[in-house]
Amino acid sequence: MAIEEKIKQLVELRKEARLGGGAKRIDSQHSKGKMTARERIDYFLDDDSFEEYDMFVTHRSNNFEMEKQKFLSDGVITGHGTIDGRVVFIFAQDFTVFGGSLSETYAQKICKIMDQAMKIGVPVIGLNDSGGARIQEGVTSLAGYADIFQRNIMASGLIPQLSAILGPCAGGAVYSPALTDFIVMNDKTSYMFVTGPKVVKTVTGENISTEDLGGAITHASKSGVSHFVSSTEEEGLMILRKLISYIPQNNLEETPLVNCDDPIDRKEDELNRIIPDNPNKPYDMKDVIGLIVDNGEYLESQRRYARNIITAFGRFNGISVGIVANQPNYLAGVLDIESSRKAARFVRFCDAFNIPIVTLVDVPGFLPGSMQEYGGIISHGAKLLYAYGEATVPKITITLRKSYGGAHDVMSSKQLRGDINYAWPTAEIAVMGASGAIEVLYTQELKELKSEEEKSLFIAEKTKEYTEKFANPYQAASYGYIDDVIEPRNTRFRIIRALQMLSTKKDTNPPKKHGNIPL
Ligand code: HXC
Repeated sequence: MAIEEKIKQLVELRKEARLGGGAKRIDSQHSKGKMTARERIDYFLDDDSFEEYDMFVTHRSNNFEMEKQKFLSDGVITGHGTIDGRVVFIFAQDFTVFGGSLSETYAQKICKIMDQAMKIGVPVIGLNDSGGARIQEGVTSLAGYADIFQRNIMASGLIPQLSAILGPCAGGAVYSPALTDFIVMNDKTSYMFVTGPKVVKTVTGENISTEDLGGAITHASKSGVSHFVSSTEEEGLMILRKLISYIPQNNLEETPLVNCDDPIDRKEDELNRIIPDNPNKPYDMKDVIGLIVDNGEYLESQRRYARNIITAFGRFNGISVGIVANQPNYLAGVLDIESSRKAARFVRFCDAFNIPIVTLVDVPGFLPGSMQEYGGIISHGAKLLYAYGEATVPKITITLRKSYGGAHDVMSSKQLRGDINYAWPTAEIAVMGASGAIEVLYTQELKELKSEEEKSLFIAEKTKEYTEKFANPYQAASYGYIDDVIEPRNTRFRIIRALQMLSTKKDTNPPKKHGNIPL
C-alpha cells in the first residue's frame, strides 16, 4: 500500500472512531439533552489541547456474537489535555457504544491514563455516562472495575480525582466516582444508586422514582454523595474547571497562586456591624465570607447538604484556601453528624493537597438528642476533630461569636495545632452558654427560690455575672489560646498577613503506616 493509501486509511479509521456507536445513537444521545463523550471533552478542555490515546482499541469478547459488533475506542475516550494551560488526564464514557458499558479493554484504557497521571502528578477527571458492567463480558468486566478501584485508592491523596456524572451510574460502578475527591451531577439527566428502583421495589416493596432514589438533588441534599449540581452539562463541566483552578496538580505542589487586584488591606466596616446584639439572632456567614475573600468570589462545595456548616474554596491575595465555617443561619450553626462528616472530608482533602484552611467559628456546640447519639455523633464528631488535629497545612481560625464546649476544641482550636487563632471582640469562648451553665451551677439555689419572680431575678443576675466573665474572648486570650482580638473590619488583612507568614510552614506527623480515623 502506498503511503497516500495508508494515510487515507488512517484518516478513515479516525473518522470511524469519532462516530462512536453511529449517527443514530448520537442523535438519540442529543435528543436526551446530552452531549457525546467527544463533545464533552472538546467543551471541557482548552481548545485543541486534547491528545487522545487508544482510539483503535476494540473489545475481545466472542460471547453472544460480540465479535460481529466492534466499535473503535470501545465505549470510552481517554487521553490528556489542559485546563488553563495545566495538564490533566481525562476519560469520557461513550454511551453510544454499548451504553457506555465497561469491558475488559475499556477498563485497561482507563487504567493506562490513571497510571500515567500518577507518575506525572496531574489530576484525573472522569466523565461518567454508562450502563455499568458490560453484560456480555461477565467477570472480566467486574475485574476491570476492581482494577480501576485499586487505582482510585492509590491515587487518593496523591493527585486530585474529579468526577462528573452525566448519565446512568449504577451498581458497583458508583464506587469509582465515590472514591474520587469531588462529584458533580447534572440535574435530571444523571443518577447514581447501588440498586435501582425495580430492585428496591422487589426487595423492600418501596415505590420510588429514579430521580428521588439517586438523582442529582437527592445526592446533593440527602446523601451528601455529590458536591455540586449543574442544570446543564456545560455548567457542570465549567464547575470542574473552576474547581481545578483552586487545587494543586498533586500532593507535592503548593496551593495555586493567581494575580490579585483586590486590595489586601480592604477594610469592611459592615463586618463591625454584622453580629446582632442578641446572641440568639442569626446572620448569614456567607455574607462574611463574601466580604473577606478576593473579589467576593468563592466556590461552595456541598451547599445543599449539612447547611449548618459551609465548605468552600476561595482566595486571599491570590492564595487558594479551603474555608470551613459554621453557619448560624441554619440550625444555629450547630455541629451534628452530617456537618461533622462533611467538614472532616473537606479538611482532609485540603490537608492532602497543601491547601491552607481558614476556619470561621460561630458554633453553639454539638446537637443534643437520642437521634444524634444513636447515629453515632461521638464517632462522627471525632472525625472532624481527627481531621483538624492531623492536618499540617497552615490553619487560621477566626472566632466570630460562639465557641462553646467540645465544639470549641474541634473547630481548629490552638490545641489542635491551630497556627493563628484570632477572635472578634464579639466572641464568646466558654464551656457552655449562660443559661445551661446557670442551671448546672445553681440547681440547689434555684430549687430553694419560691416565686417565679425571685427565680427570674436570680437568673438575670447570674447570667449577667457569667456573661461578663465568660462570654468574651479575653479569658481565652489571657491564656494565649487566642493570639489576638481583632477588629472585624480588618479580618481580610489579618488573614492575608497570617497566610503570608505561614507560607513556609513545615509540620509533620509521626511516621506510621496510617492512622485509624473513626470512620
Ligand atoms: C451491555 C448495554 C448495557 C450493559 C446498556 N447497554 N447497558 N450493553 N452491557 N450493561 C446497551 C443496550 O443494549 C443498548 O444497545 C444501548 O446500550 C443503550 O441502552 P438502552 O437501554 O437503549 O438505553 P436507555 O433506555 O437510555 O437505558 C439505559 C440503561 C439501560 C438504564 C443504562 O440500558 C440499562 O438498564 N442497562 C443495564 C444496566 C445494568 O444492569 N448494568 C449492569 C449493572 S451491574 P443498542 O445496541 O440498542 O444501542 C454492574 C456491576 C458493576 O454494573 C460492578 C462493579 C464492581
